[in-house]
Amino acid sequence: MSKITCSTLLKFKQQGKKFTALTAYDASFAHAFDSEGVEVLLVGDSLGMVLQGHDDTLPVTTADIAYHTRCVRRGISHALLIADMPFMSYASAEQAMTNAALLMQAGANMVKVEGGHWLLETVTKLTERGIPVCAHLGLTPQSVHVFGGFKVQGRDADNAQRILDEAKALQAAGAQLLVLECIPASLAKTITQALSIPVIGIGAGADTDGQILVMHDVLGISSGYIPRFSKNYLKQTGEIRSAIRAYIDEVAAGTFPGEEHTFN
Ligand code: KIV
Ligand code: NA
Repeated sequence: MSKITCSTLLKFKQQGKKFTALTAYDASFAHAFDSEGVEVLLVGDSLGMVLQGHDDTLPVTTADIAYHTRCVRRGISHALLIADMPFMSYASAEQAMTNAALLMQAGANMVKVEGGHWLLETVTKLTERGIPVCAHLGLTPQSVHVFGGFKVQGRDADNAQRILDEAKALQAAGAQLLVLECIPASLAKTITQALSIPVIGIGAGADTDGQILVMHDVLGISSGYIPRFSKNYLKQTGEIRSAIRAYIDEVAAGTFPGEEHTFN
């Protein structure tokens, strides 16, 4: 298997081949996920919750993400490595360029940012300077306090239209990948069909080009709240590598996510 790049993912979309993404925070898990064939690994700012024990992702710093990106990089042979830009590390385009450079130098292949229209100039500037951008719309957890909780987004027509418009605008600004989180499956399908760039869903139904989950949810070791859209693959397989293989197989076959993991 050769290295996965943003061109590989674009080709997968064009061929209708579903791909799998997973969060990773250290070299050992990254190596296991990579060698089983997970195409995309994300050093998510979810690490604030699953590693650091916070209630949300806001306390995570660029230094935290850079540290875990260096760890994960050492475990990867093939997968595309995305690093999350943390809360307020890209509030201005200038800050975004400085902090994204640190993450790329830590070993990321791409950075991910949460938000829509306000980010367009930042996405263009990063891309022009050689930093590929993954956008993230829907339930963007860094805005949890604006949303008033971790709530499904895009349920009313105005909000749905806005998310679709922002997705198109982010693509036009240069974004090469998009994550859609916790939106109705029908909206995710519309957006996936409207865009030429690959779309990765989490809680966004089965019709996106790829799926992503937090590794702690796949292995059933998240403490507290388990989101409806996640699936514990360790329970059905009893072994970590088999769990990852089951996740990859079900995404490729289109059997995950099922109706029970989906918002309508
Ligand atoms: O931080 C994270 O793990 C994420 C994914 C859930 C998309 O942003
Ligand atoms: Na994140």
